[in-house]
Amino acid sequence: MTTLLDGKAFAARLRLRVAEAVTELTAAGGPVPGLAVVLVGEDAASQVYVRSKGRATREAGMASFEHRLPVDTPQSVLMALIARLNVDPTVHGILVQLPLPEQMDTAAVIAAIDPAKDVDGFHISNVGLLATGGRAMVPCTPLGCLMLLRGALGSLRGLDAVVLGRSNIVGKPMAQLLLAEDCTVTVAHSRTRNLADLCRRADILVAAVGRPGMVPGDWIKPGATVIDVGINRVSDGQGGSRLVGDVDFDTAASVAGAITPVPGGVGPMTIACLLANTVTAAARASD
Ligand code: GUN
Repeated sequence: MTTLLDGKAFAARLRLRVAEAVTELTAAGGPVPGLAVVLVGEDAASQVYVRSKGRATREAGMASFEHRLPVDTPQSVLMALIARLNVDPTVHGILVQLPLPEQMDTAAVIAAIDPAKDVDGFHISNVGLLATGGRAMVPCTPLGCLMLLRGALGSLRGLDAVVLGRSNIVGKPMAQLLLAEDCTVTVAHSRTRNLADLCRRADILVAAVGRPGMVPGDWIKPGATVIDVGINRVSDGQGGSRLVGDVDFDTAASVAGAITPVPGGVGPMTIACLLANTVTAAARASD
């Protein structure tokens, strides 16, 4: 029997725990955690994400600050805003929504964020801390994947994990987290040879490549745990569209031991982990 890893339900429980942590922190005289989200431009998908991040933040009892800047904003203006947020004592987490418009140097923008407020975990200080086993802010999507994996498997020690995709946001931090759980980790990408054979050896398969249905069921080891990070909008063949993952769910679900659906798998975990990181940042600020 295949287990469906219900990220929506898992995330709802995590959000309740975050709300409890907020209550405990403020009851102990700590600050109300505050999250500032910065959106530059009008990208439709980003607007949806930013709205739902704001709503979830308020629902967890935290303060939400939204900053919307026009698409042609000079980088210096964004940098000045980040500098203000870095020293604002009511702001404990700063998230600059990616992708940024072309005129921006994304690496320089991320480097300007105070690492202690970097709830995305994208600053090189946090990347380095994660790689060396320190007290890092961990990127939200891979952190959510890890929680689902722990929930499904308990200990991950000694398992063979294959991560498809090597992005800074998902693939690379995912590999670090799995390594820290004592998995044997392979990171595969568009130039990897014998991808199917490699995937067939994986006890844990994390797909984060952004290619709809790229992983068919016959690439999956029977009983494996499959985490599908892909969120791809495709035509439904009737003039509308639907969301699908990087894994071909219909063929994979009969082989995998456990699998995340799309939507309702990893997606809801990402926002819940963002809230968790914000509480963590606020608690550390008041230590
Ligand atoms: N755009 C897509 N995913 C993310 C994310 O996790 N954080 C930020 N800041 N932007 C994104």
